[in-house]
Amino acid sequence: MIRNPDARFDESCHDSTVSQNIAWHGSKVAAADRTRLLRQEPATVWLTGLSGAGKSTIAFEVEKRLFALGHASYVLDGDNVRHGLNRDLGFSHGDRTENIRRIAELARLFNEAGLIVIAAFISPYRQDRVMAREIIGPERFIETHLCAELEVCEQRDPKGLYKKARQGAIAEFTGVTAPYEVPEDPELKIDTGRSTVEDSVSAIIKALAPRLFQAEPIAARSCGTERPYSRQIDLKTSAA
Ligand code: ADX
Repeated sequence: MIRNPDARFDESCHDSTVSQNIAWHGSKVAAADRTRLLRQEPATVWLTGLSGAGKSTIAFEVEKRLFALGHASYVLDGDNVRHGLNRDLGFSHGDRTENIRRIAELARLFNEAGLIVIAAFISPYRQDRVMAREIIGPERFIETHLCAELEVCEQRDPKGLYKKARQGAIAEFTGVTAPYEVPEDPELKIDTGRSTVEDSVSAIIKALAPRLFQAEPIAARSCGTERPYSRQIDLKTSAA
């Protein structure tokens, strides 16, 4: 097998089961050119925390705020991804590890495409988050612990799952009958039991700010004509 010669990260952590008869095809578009096009350096904001800590709520608010600022991002959300890509996975330790591995690979691809990813997964195991960091690349990985206490999350119980778990109707429920390993050294820690959604979103946008660039003034791009920008593209040269 031919490894990707341009690999930015050590891929040895997840290549042991890769098929032998495949080769890596490199893109002809450089990462720096995608950055120029999208005016952002991609990253993955990895939201981890108990069910009910506010991961999905905050993730979609961050996406909305980034969109309003003119930046391209996408939310990968635990419940959503388990409706499709990961619908074959349950909540055993092994299945959760596979859930996180696939999501990390997906986030890496989205980042390679230039997008900012907001990943919202309980991701309760420290080792799985270490794996996600390795797959995505440490310089793109912003581990963000939404650290509302169990009592707060259980009080909120937005989906009624804690109640079911206490009644024994859900097995291996995080915080009740399955562990949550607290991040030791996350890039960001937000106590969503005390902080408002707006303040939590602002903290994440602030962490992303060094990667977000302003649009060039329109005047710098126009050629002094009144024609729409799209009409100025030379189709022959842009297709080359
Ligand atoms: S993870 O542990 O593998 O990271 P993930 O974030 O994908 O979990 O999915 C968590 C969501 O699945 C919860 O928000 C909840 O709605 C639902 N869920 C169903 N069963 C469980 C369970 N046993 N433990 C935790 N969450 C569960």
